Amino acid sequence: MQTLHVDLKERSYPIAIGSKIDCATLIKQSLPKVHELMVVSNETIAPLYFEALKENLESAGFKVSLCALKDGEQYKTVESYMQVMTSLLEHGFSRDGALIALGGGVVGDITGFAASTYQRGISFVQIPTTLLAMVDSSVGGKTAINHALGKNMIGTFYQPKCVIADLESLKTLPTREVSAGLAEVIKYGIIYDHEFFNYLYERKESLLNADVETLSYIVKRCCEIKAEVVAQDEKEHGLRAILNLGHTFGHAIEAYLGFGTYLHGEAVAVGMNIACIYAHAQGKLTDLQLVCIQELLKACNLPIDSPKGMSAQDYLSRMHHDKKVREGKIVYVIPTKLGRCETLKLSDEEMSLFLSSKICKS
Ligand SMILES: NC(=O)c1ccc[n+]([C@@H]2O[C@H](COP(=O)([O-])OP(=O)(O)OC[C@H]3O[C@@H](n4cnc5c(N)ncnc54)[C@H](O)[C@@H]3O)[C@@H](O)[C@H]2O)c1
Repeated sequence: MQTLHVDLKERSYPIAIGSKIDCATLIKQSLPKVHELMVVSNETIAPLYFEALKENLESAGFKVSLCALKDGEQYKTVESYMQVMTSLLEHGFSRDGALIALGGGVVGDITGFAASTYQRGISFVQIPTTLLAMVDSSVGGKTAINHALGKNMIGTFYQPKCVIADLESLKTLPTREVSAGLAEVIKYGIIYDHEFFNYLYERKESLLNADVETLSYIVKRCCEIKAEVVAQDEKEHGLRAILNLGHTFGHAIEAYLGFGTYLHGEAVAVGMNIACIYAHAQGKLTDLQLVCIQELLKACNLPIDSPKGMSAQDYLSRMHHDKKVREGKIVYVIPTKLGRCETLKLSDEEMSLFLSSKICKS
């Protein structure tokens, strides 16, 4: 097992990465005064992993209950959040209890939001079970639920007390979900670490079936990068925005196609390709670098082309509803070279011209 640290002064916490991790011991270390835990999971993950976790926690003296939500992004709602609240109240949870998020990003985001608001805040732990959640959503303290008018529009910044990424759980993860997670993995190479990009590129044919050693290195490197970025800018006043590479275009694509058509990571893959084509057109990425990025995404079974029929106006109208709009202008994350990027406020005229000429297909 390897342990990293997210350095946020009194809100610092460890990230444990390994196989068959003894969660009870780590949770006891992080939450020495807690005796009662509620595991929040969903109807797919709980049957796979809850019993073993419960046994492990109970053997260490914890009282453990389960709140199983419905599975899917469409249930990342105020109703699921209220289900957690009701469950906590019915079990008579006081501020001494803690929540455990056992699942992917959806479960993690809802649980974090519930933890941050129940009785003005109780502790919580992230046990991510998807690759995406291990490398991205479980670290950094963004919590959220969706509103009918926008994704992740209701939420808080609230850090977990520890993150436990047990790679064993990836064995039951559907391949398409592994691909979606790899999109976020590739993102870290493009925005922060050229060498890590090369590491991924050299293994591109085997990433979908990566062995535990490779996965362990990948999760560790991504968490290191996320921890470094979050430690410098916890609440996204600046640097942290680079983690959104491909997300602004990606959210527009998800909304255009209808949420659920593409997985989040798939839409982000197309979005990253668009941002990289823009960077290439500005002379920031070489021909070879752009081709390598596209080859890597494709090797991970990720889409890279803009949806057929989606026009520049379709992008712009949806991107204006995103959280990344400042003074009426959309803020884009664009590579400045492989391994670095910047945020750019671009006019709609400029973006429209670029999208119409280089991206949109009729
Ligand atoms: N908070 C953040 O910083 C942050 C960052 C990125 C994404 N997110 C959010 O994360 C969510 C996406 O997360 P996700 O990709 O993990 O999706 P998800 O939570 O919907 O999980 C994907 C699917 O895999 C299933 N699953 C999870 N683990 C499994 C396992 N081990 N075996 C078998 N099936 C398993 C789930 O039940 C679900 O059906 C989005 O809501 C997104 O907004 C948040």
